[in-house]
Amino acid sequence: MANMSVDFLGMHFRNPVLPAAGPNVRDGESLRRAAEGGAGALLAKTVSVQAAPVPRTHMMKFGQQGMLNTELWTELTLEQWLDEEYAVGIAAAREHGIPFIASMGYTAEELREIGPKVAAIDGIDAVEVTIHYTGGAEKVEAGVIALREVIDLPIIAKLSPHYGDLGELAARLEPHVDAFTCINSFGPTLAIDIETAKPILGSQFGYGWISGEPLKPLALRCVFEVARRVSKPVMGVGGISTGRDLIEHFMAGASAVGICTAVMYEGHGVYGKIVREASEWLDEHGYSSIRDVQGLFLKNIGEGQEVVIETRMQPRVVEDLCIRCTACERVCMFDAITAPPGEIARVHEEKCFQCGLCLTVCPTGALVWPQGEGLGGH
Ligand SMILES: Cc1cc2nc3c(=O)[nH]c(=O)nc-3n(C[C@H](O)[C@H](O)[C@H](O)COP(=O)(O)O)c2cc1C
Ligand code: SF4
Ligand code: SF4
Repeated sequence: MANMSVDFLGMHFRNPVLPAAGPNVRDGESLRRAAEGGAGALLAKTVSVQAAPVPRTHMMKFGQQGMLNTELWTELTLEQWLDEEYAVGIAAAREHGIPFIASMGYTAEELREIGPKVAAIDGIDAVEVTIHYTGGAEKVEAGVIALREVIDLPIIAKLSPHYGDLGELAARLEPHVDAFTCINSFGPTLAIDIETAKPILGSQFGYGWISGEPLKPLALRCVFEVARRVSKPVMGVGGISTGRDLIEHFMAGASAVGICTAVMYEGHGVYGKIVREASEWLDEHGYSSIRDVQGLFLKNIGEGQEVVIETRMQPRVVEDLCIRCTACERVCMFDAITAPPGEIARVHEEKCFQCGLCLTVCPTGALVWPQGEGLGGH
């Protein structure tokens, strides 16, 4: 079985799958459940000087596995975390032999106040600082500098995609922090209840932040961008719910990953499930360790690839695999596939524009490029 343990900032994780800050780690008890669910280390909900004035309602399902939320940071007071919740979470971490990371935000003044109080808790191994509501890059930089001045623990800067070029931002913060988390949720976004023409979420205009499956491609791009620019480790967060998602984040450049939305849809056991699936994938592909796939994409494509603008090949149909579902004909906007009900699909090579879409909708992998590389099932 592939070795799933990783070292991150000198901490040893039994596996690279952590909770990302959210309601899944809203208190000590839910941190305990994350440890029992197989997380490789624990990371707690973000604290700030005040308990968050969380709007009701503040979460809604979006699409199959996505979510919009306007939860802000912890609804508990800093004192409650310092007096009770951290102790429960740290005890769970110690029972499972895994590290414990606290999360905090947002301004320089707040971090200067919170940092030493949290760092004084015995058993906290590192601190993640979230910049979600901090303000512009200057304020973010001032925040991490302030935190660096008041604590000795490793600092992980959690970046938010609404800051734009995260590679640029990471390079600016790199002298002051030890690692990066990419990314927080994206937004703000909007959903409307069309029966009432009012918001679904309870924030002022109903705005919320998107997470889960729809966030994954954006998260991967940001992980890649940051890993390309800086030499410090990156924790990949965004849309991870399967072992394949974990492998993808690692290939983009992540050295550990965080999970939030999938825990809410699938329960606290999802950490262990993701680890098992990734481990099986590694076994099947002849890798002995998760570390073997770390940065593979980055290595291949770090300088970009050749952009091809002529049709060089057309898909072919592996007849034994075609279940005659007609999906490929429906999606081909170039009329290059016929797949009438009950018949095996046929590609009309002269019309094919090599757009690639049919390969990604075929449910069985029956459409492949001439070299036999299938892209189905993604
Ligand atoms: C309801 C909810 C609350 C969240 N609260 C926090 C938070 O307090 N601090 C933080 O840094 N990120 C917070 N996040 C962002 C997540 O940690 C994570 O970065 C984001 O959801 C993407 O990961 P996912 O697709 O696995 O959910 C929250 C996300 C959700 C959905
Ligand atoms: S690659 Fe695009 S153009 Fe070619 S057959 Fe498939 S869907 Fe049609
Ligand atoms: S999508 Fe795949 S399985 Fe369905 S008809 Fe086309 S080739 Fe056959």
